[in-house]
Amino acid sequence: MFRISVFVSGRGSNLNTILKETSKDKNLEINAVFSNKSTCPAFEIADENGIPKYVIGNTQDSVSFDEVSALLEKIGTDLIVLAGFLKKIPDVLVDKYENRIISIHPALLPSFGGKGMYGMNVHRAVFDSTAKVSGATVHFVNKVFDAGSIIAQKCVDISEVDYPEEIAEKVIKVEHSILPYVIRKIYEGKVYVENKRVKIK
Ligand code: GRF
Repeated sequence: MFRISVFVSGRGSNLNTILKETSKDKNLEINAVFSNKSTCPAFEIADENGIPKYVIGNTQDSVSFDEVSALLEKIGTDLIVLAGFLKKIPDVLVDKYENRIISIHPALLPSFGGKGMYGMNVHRAVFDSTAKVSGATVHFVNKVFDAGSIIAQKCVDISEVDYPEEIAEKVIKVEHSILPYVIRKIYEGKVYVENKRVKIK
């Protein structure tokens, strides 16, 4: 069994696409959903699918990152997927899950990434830059925001858009195709890191 833990903060549309991918293969499962928010649509998706969910925080009904680390080990997580999770993953967890934490970013990194670059902030920055293309990136998570080795990217043409929201609509569609693709390739053992560059066989 290949167990995936998904870290979310919002709508959960990427969580949904991962669910669709895992439903195709009995050896693939989402074993838990984590969020820093006690209520979010992504948690409702977890409930609808009977997936255990955990709030990361410092209150009595949440788990600390130290507890998350022990929990991930206990539930046998093979891959951590950040799907909109807005908190930084502690270095100790990055070290423990080296090249086993991936994240989806709604732009073509290394452009338009880094602290504070999430959601519509990204699409507004892309729109204001007058760029003609945008896209999505799946990358490994390291100790610097959005700076891990890039695994896959896909572009979208934004030359005719009139609003940043149009960019968001185009990019989310691409996210929903490249994230499950990368997850499957990792599951199949076809993703290799050579001198920081990632190759998918
Ligand atoms: C996505 O746009 C992703 O690129 C970014 O956060 C958003 C999450 O959206 N990291 P959703 O919650 O998966 O719909």
